[in-house]
Amino acid sequence: MIKAFNNKGSSFFLLKNDELSCLLQVKNGKLLMLHLGRPISEEDAPALCPETGSGWGCSVMNGELCLDSLPLAFSSGGSGDFRELPLELFLKGKILHPDFSFVKAETGVSFRGRLPGARGERESLEITLDSQYASVRIIFSLFETALTEKWLVEAKTEGLAIGKCMSLMADLQGDFIFSSFDGGWISEACRHDAPVSFSKLVNESLSGFSSNRHNPGFLLSRRGSGTDLGEVYGFNLIYSGNHYSSVQKSLQNLTRVMQGINPSGFLLELENGGIFEAPEAVVAFSSKGENGLRRCMHSFVNAHIIPQHFQGRERPVLYNSWEGCMFSFSERRLLTLAKKAKALGCELFVLDDGWFGQRNSDEAGLGDYNVNLKKLPGGLEGLSEKLGKLGLDFGLWFEPEAVNPDSELFRAHPDWAIKTDGPSLLGRNELLLDLRKAEVRDYIVENVSSAIDRAGIKYVKWDMNRHSPLLGAEAHEYILGLYEVLERIFSPRPQVLLESCASGGNRFDLGMLSFGPQAWASDNTDPIERLEIQQGLSCLYPQSAMGAHVSASPHLQSLRSTPLSTRANVSFFGIFGLELDLNHLSRAEFSELKAAVSFYKEHRKAFQFGSLSLTEAEEGAYCWQLSSEEETIVGLFHTLVHSAPGYELLRVTGLEPGRLYSVEARQQSLRIGQFSGMIKYIAPIDPGPDSLLVREADRLASLPDGGFSALCSGSALSSGIPLNLKFPGTGYNPGFRNQGDFSSNIYIIKAGP
Ligand code: GLA
Repeated sequence: MIKAFNNKGSSFFLLKNDELSCLLQVKNGKLLMLHLGRPISEEDAPALCPETGSGWGCSVMNGELCLDSLPLAFSSGGSGDFRELPLELFLKGKILHPDFSFVKAETGVSFRGRLPGARGERESLEITLDSQYASVRIIFSLFETALTEKWLVEAKTEGLAIGKCMSLMADLQGDFIFSSFDGGWISEACRHDAPVSFSKLVNESLSGFSSNRHNPGFLLSRRGSGTDLGEVYGFNLIYSGNHYSSVQKSLQNLTRVMQGINPSGFLLELENGGIFEAPEAVVAFSSKGENGLRRCMHSFVNAHIIPQHFQGRERPVLYNSWEGCMFSFSERRLLTLAKKAKALGCELFVLDDGWFGQRNSDEAGLGDYNVNLKKLPGGLEGLSEKLGKLGLDFGLWFEPEAVNPDSELFRAHPDWAIKTDGPSLLGRNELLLDLRKAEVRDYIVENVSSAIDRAGIKYVKWDMNRHSPLLGAEAHEYILGLYEVLERIFSPRPQVLLESCASGGNRFDLGMLSFGPQAWASDNTDPIERLEIQQGLSCLYPQSAMGAHVSASPHLQSLRSTPLSTRANVSFFGIFGLELDLNHLSRAEFSELKAAVSFYKEHRKAFQFGSLSLTEAEEGAYCWQLSSEEETIVGLFHTLVHSAPGYELLRVTGLEPGRLYSVEARQQSLRIGQFSGMIKYIAPIDPGPDSLLVREADRLASLPDGGFSALCSGSALSSGIPLNLKFPGTGYNPGFRNQGDFSSNIYIIKAGP
């Protein structure tokens, strides 16, 4: 609901859904934000009006308002607000002091520019503020579980330059913890918490993209809030370029929050009447802690960000060739893998890097689209047809934004690569193509579209593997070019499943998710590392947006050995796939993996679209819960185990207290070799650890592990029921959980016996 009303001579606007309210006031022509948080009503407005402030000491008055001490929704230089400003305008190299005042408010407006934005039903309120140099339109849009804000600046004079323009500004009252999701390649989205104080906290990217260093999304949690309790705000930006967010507390206990395009080095000149469009920023709020916030953000992303065709649509189980083959494959090898993938239950076969030009390593071929006929004698069409006969859809990897200097494309058009006045540096042996140029955009659109159509491709992995050489507004113009390319390729082909990737999670953002419903979370597929990565991302993005694959053990990046059950269990909490050399699987592993794929497919709806919450777990453990109408799924993951383990409880939240529920653990397998040193105690022979006999037995068979079932009330499950023991040091017993380090189990909870 959006409501405009007057009280004691000033105008108010109340935006309200079931989760949050935003109360705006226009006072002496200035725009105040009196409240952003719990749902409130129109009658609350007078009580929420602060003293307008007479100014303290050296403060400056703007009419009767001391703007420096008020909660504002907009501010500009020279107005008497000395906190960080959201807008900087320049004319002929000089900074301006525009005097903005409220002009009008309109409801039901919409704006479609060059940037992606939230889709579907919205209620909107556009507030226009005008000055001698420019007018600013702030569009607030209300959705079921979130609010968005977007700023547009219209120049009123020739040559006006934007130095900084945020997408959102708010002044929140109280004390907060700021949580950002940071890292780098193979270590994305690691959460860092810091108290908000008088020194500014900044979350930004400067690499040209939203980046694996600092995801654009962040949380602000009111002190004392927790997993299921208290007030938590989530902020995010529908944008894939350099972003900027800051939070800083003032003496009046107001925390200024802003989010938008990174202003560093930014300068963009407009024509008279020209409009600068800032990306749409998203705010969600919950008074039910982080899990409440997760629910709001996830349902917003699922309903209003991802393309309509994929909303609520179950995604296929895929096999990806990368970690199994890298660049070295032939059609024969791919088809052998494909047959095995099909036998395991996969539905889509994705050919990763290496299918075109001279792409036999990452040193050559990027930019070219001619199929390598040595590897694929029947071309993409031939491979697609053979996969089709096996009953598999065909997916293909592209890295359309980059070029290797050693490529046909670069030799023909060296000027298509980005050139700045700085040095031309390579990243993973590649340069970026200049997507600001129309001929470059056309080349990409034509080649990618024609490959998709020719070979009946159902899935595209769109990769991008280096940081950008562009700075400031140049980097923004590149992103506008990228969005145009994605729109031209995918909007006429809405059924093609696009998974974006950028060296893993270097562009895991709402901008990319607007074109394709999922993104590759990280090149790190070690399940234990993935616990932190997926848990971090889950604060802002639904599990249906995260590609998560089962890979080999020992792992390629961490050299860690983990049970196959855990590799599968962690991947279940994302869009599940396989990414390993299937020829290396033993017979026992093959059946274990087959059972895991079929288990995922049986519970796919709940895994992909169930409502995710984190629940209490032992130290060093993780407990993830998915709740859907039909069932509740709990994943319990351990890192290092201790000997002499105590009882561990299975706690399940959100069930009906008086109702009866059945609990069943997923049947898992255990390697015989794990007990090889102990066989001599129970058998007449001593095969010795790692003997040929044990290895052969291991290849052919496995032991059952971790079986558990119970029948009890929702109330008992919410306080916790004891699980079967972890290996207590007394020998194998199928009733124990014997996996040791990095073990995990999945429990399915259903109503009724
Ligand atoms: C990047 C991606 C990987 C893989 C390789 C191929 O690193 O993140 O998943 O596609 O490129 O070169």
